[in-house]
Amino acid sequence: MTNLVQLTSDNGVAIITINNPPVNALSPGVPEGISEALDQIAQNASVKATVLIGGGRTFVAGADIKEFGKMTSGKPRGAGLLPLLLKIEDSAKPVIVAIHGTAFGGGMELAMAGHYRVALATAQFGQPEVKLGLIPGAAGTQRLPRLAGVAKAVEMCVSGNPVNAEEALKLGIVDRIIEDDLLSGAIAFALEVADKPAPKTRERNEKLRSAAENALIFSAAREALAKKQRGLLAPASAIDAVEAATKMPFDEGCKAEQKLFIECLFSEQSKSLIHVFFSEREVAKIPDIPKQTNVFPIHSAVVVGAGTMGGGIAMVLANAGIPVLLKEADQAALDRGMTTIRSNYANSVKRGRFSQQIAEERLKRITPTLTYDDFSNVDLVIEAVFEGMALKKEVFRELDRVCKPGAILASNTSTLSIDEIASATSRPESVIGTHFFSPANVMRLLEIVRGKASSKEVVATCMQLSKTLGKVGVLVGNCRGFVGNRMFGPYRREAQFLIEEGASVEAVDRALSDFGMAMGPLATGDLAGLDVGWRIRKEYLHLEVPGIRQPFVEDRLCELGRYGQKTGAGWYKYDDQRRASPDPAVGELIRNWVEEAGTEQRQISAAEITDRCLYALVNEGARILEEGYALRASDIDIIYINGYGFPAHRGGPMWYADAVGLKRVYDRVCEFHRQHGEIWQPAPLLKQLAEQGKTFAEFGREQGVTA
Ligand code: NAI
Repeated sequence: MTNLVQLTSDNGVAIITINNPPVNALSPGVPEGISEALDQIAQNASVKATVLIGGGRTFVAGADIKEFGKMTSGKPRGAGLLPLLLKIEDSAKPVIVAIHGTAFGGGMELAMAGHYRVALATAQFGQPEVKLGLIPGAAGTQRLPRLAGVAKAVEMCVSGNPVNAEEALKLGIVDRIIEDDLLSGAIAFALEVADKPAPKTRERNEKLRSAAENALIFSAAREALAKKQRGLLAPASAIDAVEAATKMPFDEGCKAEQKLFIECLFSEQSKSLIHVFFSEREVAKIPDIPKQTNVFPIHSAVVVGAGTMGGGIAMVLANAGIPVLLKEADQAALDRGMTTIRSNYANSVKRGRFSQQIAEERLKRITPTLTYDDFSNVDLVIEAVFEGMALKKEVFRELDRVCKPGAILASNTSTLSIDEIASATSRPESVIGTHFFSPANVMRLLEIVRGKASSKEVVATCMQLSKTLGKVGVLVGNCRGFVGNRMFGPYRREAQFLIEEGASVEAVDRALSDFGMAMGPLATGDLAGLDVGWRIRKEYLHLEVPGIRQPFVEDRLCELGRYGQKTGAGWYKYDDQRRASPDPAVGELIRNWVEEAGTEQRQISAAEITDRCLYALVNEGARILEEGYALRASDIDIIYINGYGFPAHRGGPMWYADAVGLKRVYDRVCEFHRQHGEIWQPAPLLKQLAEQGKTFAEFGREQGVTA
């Protein structure tokens, strides 16, 4: 037997223990080990029943994700696991699977092949394959409906979300919850059932219900999918696979599942989602900041400014258990800020996200203040006052005066130079950017902006802090707009050019939401407030190169007071529930303005809309990468997926460009350059990689991010 699996016995019960730390993934060797153990048990007349259990901190948390990548060039895992699962189910003596921690993916499939399942109350059960663009590939979609019922199986396989032990017991996934020691409880259970005929999950057809009942379940699931996750292969395949369980005998169903699994496995969507999975882990690695770099403890914090961002950031800190002082300039603004925070917490309680008690505990951690008193004790300050250099410098000068040495002084600025802000202090090494995204308590992205002088410890501490706060921290350099907004500029610029050239507002947004963006670029502008960009454009007017084409329609809308959702009108018009509808008046205005400007109008295809907007993102991303303001292409992908609603199943803008092929992207950029001028100058790195036949993913950098 392999050393990943051990066989022992206790009181006539054989115990198979999986020991493949850290999560007992079903790597090669584990299924073989279990199979050999079963052979030995079959030979041993004194064994009455078998317990299958995981050693260490969990049962089996799933397949080894690295194996999926290998499978596309080799043999799929399902083929290896399926025979083992049948062998477990066909054992003459009952197999009791004992679960603690998680039984996810292949672990769940393994558990369901047992005749019984017992679990600790803290255990969790799920088929999360869909999150990697896959479906269960070892009969999960066939056994789950037989245990939990068709509707629940569809829900679990489509959402990928787990259920806890209590729910699993109600559903019939689990037969007993064990209160104390799992192994002793499982052995006791095994002795109780040893003489009874062992039920095979694959023969338990009573929960498969009638064709008519099931038809309703499947059509409702497909309808929901069409609304929320249009174009996604894995959830649709999961529904098809569960449907197969209800319409075919078990082994036919397994074959149907296998076929769907392979289709998903070889899809671009799955490759992209697996890329996202690994990229999210990669972001934490910073070449010039070793893992053992000293990280400062953050026991307390201050947020300066209780506006849109400051209030949200204070909540994020409080939610993570960090007491926070919330400082405002005047009482009215402070009261407004605290009222918003209270109502946000009340809403979360209303929606059942957490209990009233938790909300109160969190709220208690936020102390409103108007003075700089007590700042001398805190470990971290996050500044979120109005966007203006003079004000930011004034605040940092004050922070420098009142904060203890070593305290981290962070700014949430979205456009201003961290170095210039740091220059207002006597300790630029303690100054850094922590760029949260709106709404700060919801969005997962945190850009950590490294200034020229930011110390390695300060960077490491902020990276660590992002995890504590439940965010994905991505290190970026201090350039205008940092990474996310720097790329967003050209993206939204193209959206506006397209309008000026003849595309309708709805057509532009539809093309990009059909591509998978959470929202179209114009609707996003309305949500964020068109006036924000308008103000920034006015402030940076002196930096624009004369003669370069600039969009003008959005500025004109702002001049008319059409700021977007907050004023009830922008690119769209809004009712009092902030529901958008197309505004014919906007179409009319645009036509007049464009006619005045003499821009030619033409028919524009959806393909041109997506190419123009997305390649504008990619071209700027290539510049950022080459200039070193992002560490790797995959960091840019993570920024776009977590901060800008880029579809994860497309892997992020840089991954998407790699998938299209950089030669194709480059040729198209050159074409746009010829048609639209200097603004489309191809990024040198894009040209270079396209000519070398390489990808952004292959463009590795060993040095740190440019500050
Ligand atoms: P906001 O206008 O909602 O809030 C700013 C708050 O700062 C106001 O409540 C104001 O009273 C307060 N304030 C001004 N001077 C102060 C002082 N000396 N001491 C204490 N409080 C003071 O602005 P918002 O949107 O929250 O932006 C704050 C910062 O976050 C800006 O730097 C902005 O660029 C950045 N940011 C904004 C995002 C957004 O979507 N709104 C996204 C990411 C960053």
